[in-house]
Amino acid sequence: MTEPKRYLITSALPYANGLKHVGHLAGAYIPADIYVRYLRAQKRDVVFVCGSDEHGTAIPIQAMKENTTPRAIIDKYHEAMKQDFADLDISFDIYHRTSEPLHHETAQEFFTYLHDRGELETKETEQYYDPEANTFLADRYIKGTCPNCGSDRAFGDQCENCGTALSPDELINPVSTLSGRIPIKKKTTHWYLPLGRHEEFLREWILKQHKDDWRATVVGQCKSWIDGGLQSRAVTRDLDWGIKVPLKEAEGKVLYVWFDAPIGYVSATRQWAIDNKKDWKPYWYDKDTKLVHFIGKDNIVFHCIIFPIMLRLHGNVLPENVPANEFLNLEGDKMSTSRNWKLEMRDYIKDFVKKDNGGGQCVDMLRYYLTQIAPETKDSEFTWKGFQDAVNSELVSIFGNFVNRTFVLMHKLCKGKVPRFHEDILDDTDRGLISDIQNSKSKVENLLEQYKFREALYEVIDLSRKGNQYMQKKEPWIVAKKLTSDTNAGVQESAQKSIDNTLHLCLQLSANLAVLINPFLPNTARNMIHMMKVVEKILDWENAGKLKLLSVGYSLREPQLLFRKIEDTEVTEQMEKLKKGMINPSKVEKSEEPKSPEQPAVKPEIVYDDFAKLDLKVATITAAEKVAKADKLLKLEVDLGFEKRTIVSGIALHFKPEDIVGKQVVIVANLAPRKMKGIDSNGMILMAEDKDGKLKFINPDETTSDGASVS
Ligand code: MF3
Ligand code: ZN
Repeated sequence: MTEPKRYLITSALPYANGLKHVGHLAGAYIPADIYVRYLRAQKRDVVFVCGSDEHGTAIPIQAMKENTTPRAIIDKYHEAMKQDFADLDISFDIYHRTSEPLHHETAQEFFTYLHDRGELETKETEQYYDPEANTFLADRYIKGTCPNCGSDRAFGDQCENCGTALSPDELINPVSTLSGRIPIKKKTTHWYLPLGRHEEFLREWILKQHKDDWRATVVGQCKSWIDGGLQSRAVTRDLDWGIKVPLKEAEGKVLYVWFDAPIGYVSATRQWAIDNKKDWKPYWYDKDTKLVHFIGKDNIVFHCIIFPIMLRLHGNVLPENVPANEFLNLEGDKMSTSRNWKLEMRDYIKDFVKKDNGGGQCVDMLRYYLTQIAPETKDSEFTWKGFQDAVNSELVSIFGNFVNRTFVLMHKLCKGKVPRFHEDILDDTDRGLISDIQNSKSKVENLLEQYKFREALYEVIDLSRKGNQYMQKKEPWIVAKKLTSDTNAGVQESAQKSIDNTLHLCLQLSANLAVLINPFLPNTARNMIHMMKVVEKILDWENAGKLKLLSVGYSLREPQLLFRKIEDTEVTEQMEKLKKGMINPSKVEKSEEPKSPEQPAVKPEIVYDDFAKLDLKVATITAAEKVAKADKLLKLEVDLGFEKRTIVSGIALHFKPEDIVGKQVVIVANLAPRKMKGIDSNGMILMAEDKDGKLKFINPDETTSDGASVS
């Protein structure tokens, strides 16, 4: 792409169903904010949009949990999330919401446009239905076992554990989230976006054009989706919470949340334009716009496959890049809202930001650590010890220390003014530092342009490290001794000249550091320009790499410490808080179960023919082993007498492989094969589960021959 005329930067719209944690922050908000601040410092035309995602089943489910209305939920969490982002200096140009009428209109127009041009198709299918709750069970209204990883906490749209996108039909043992009942099937008609029609475009656009400039993890996920066969995706739902489908024949139906939410980027841009008296259209229609979506990896297919298809059909610009991040773990475990194993933005704000001295130090300390550990290429981990180390041994000891030393010495040895630079005594050490300063701009810039934020930040810190090394080599405090110990005027003069040069360069380096750190740590940059008594203009990106940012003779303020140390006690306190708050997983399963009026003792009646369809057979387990990366799954070999088979079973938490080899069990022999973790599973082992969730095999009371029929 040639130099774009304008930039449109988006961060994933968070669901307004709860407070967001630092994993979200590191994934989609901080990197976007760094990028946007960098573009603004370059005086580019840039709009940064975000907002709350207020539709989908997640909202009414949260309303049930809190015993209130969906409206109350979105109002509460919209405000709370907006505040948290503001407190952490995420500088959206607009933080909109999808419940706004402007968004409803925009999304409906999109649907109508695609519908009128024949880009959607309708299909009547049988879908899961909860007769007690009187509703179809889409998305999070239904849960069950994940066919991919065996987790029993998968929803009808996605598995929380492994991130796989699912449809309700893929769930093993589905139950209604609303009533806890086993659902029935009922006919319904929906509108679908036939992704298959766009396969060629996707292959060309992603797998060819963007194969090198998009992250490998992103291209990889897209490739496996495309290669796996692009199914039509329903874009409507039978729900009463959402945006009404704008068709007479679609009474009672709403747009699928993943159809409307990304259009939220468009409606947010429109609202921003109204508020700022601008024209929104070029941002979405002019090909000289560079659109970049910042998201977490669980949103990749929506932003790289489905939404681009919609945009293309609708005549809009396509994203130039989608720098999706992997996940951030916390102290050795996945972050999880249900187990309360997480660090909410709000908790950090309360415990750190609100207690600092108003300089925004703690905001920057978190922004620093989350960028330094950003999960750009693989999952990474937040630990309190890691946070402490990053702050104390990098921000305080390297960056902060350099700036502080420079200012202290300048006040002591140069009367608080920017000293002259004496070209005649320029030496190789000076030259080394000068070229480090000059090179830093393009280094940081190249990395930022490639969305390599952690490396870019490393370069900035590294430049301050070089400043420290330079200072260490020059030792102006030792040279200063000559000013008093030696009375020879010539010696004194050359000593002062050496000191001047050292501090002159260190001050120019400090000014450079302010420019370079600004996109990452805006509060630090502000505190630095305050000390330098210069205006914000100095932070323009074009000033990076320049050596005359501070004028000779200009007097500067006394230094203030840029960062404070994180004490051991703070680490201990946070660890205790985390552990105390953790909800044990077995309790979650129980407490999350909606309080349904009595679980039905017996499933709805069936006729004999229904039963006769099952082919139950006796088999012996001949081998058992754990399935890699799936803590609940065992891979079993069973002998049916007339044939041997592989069955994957979700019983690994209940049985040790070595204890079950040789056991005779009953299996469903004619169940359609299913792939689990890449292994074909041919059948299902029957189990008895008691009320505490304990499992026992069903087997003949005495050994019988393998292959015996059970009826
Ligand atoms: N609410 C979704 C999530 O939290 C993200 C929506 S992104 C958008 O996973 F594109 F749809 F806006
Ligand atoms: Zn899974």
